[in-house]
Amino acid sequence: MDERTELLRQMRHEIVHLTESPLYEFRIENNYFPVIGQGSHFAHIMFIGEAPGENEAKTGRPFCGQSGRILDELLDRINLNRDDVYVTNIVKDRPPKNRDPSKAEIKLYAPYLKRQIEIIQPRVLATLGRFSMEFVLDLFDAGQKGQKISALHGQTIAVDTAYGEATVVPLYHPAVALYNANQKATLIEDFKALKPFLD
Ligand code: URA
Repeated sequence: MDERTELLRQMRHEIVHLTESPLYEFRIENNYFPVIGQGSHFAHIMFIGEAPGENEAKTGRPFCGQSGRILDELLDRINLNRDDVYVTNIVKDRPPKNRDPSKAEIKLYAPYLKRQIEIIQPRVLATLGRFSMEFVLDLFDAGQKGQKISALHGQTIAVDTAYGEATVVPLYHPAVALYNANQKATLIEDFKALKPFLD
């Protein structure tokens, strides 16, 4: 097994046993899985969502429900194969009733996302929704503090990471397209910002 896969397996093991998480009991009661991430461990593009929903917690796979279908369509439109990217979330367990993740939950799970970024070393961090946008811009001190996703979506923001320069591309969460055709058109347009990074 390659080193990245080994490190990610170790991380999965830690999250499976994360009894101090406020979401742990809920996971066990419902026979849910933690959702760690899916895709290539050598991906150049990492997509980062918020937290798993019910379908995701039932299967252990990120973005496999309605939002996932939109994500697949958006990837397809720029000829990007889901197997060639890596998809994950900030929070690895499902919050009840699909509520937003709390500050405490984000803080607890953030070190795992940081490790995933360090292990996979993506050139592009494509954030899906405001939570992951704020977290990632803050993590790399990108200097956009306080800026809203409505101002930053579709932009490319250069950041310095421990493994070299990377680009953050803030994107709206695919779920917005479920209820609003204009937002879907915006997402389709914004995904084109990823095209220069495709090999
Ligand atoms: N929404 C997210 O943010 N992540 C998922 O994995 C599914 C839905």
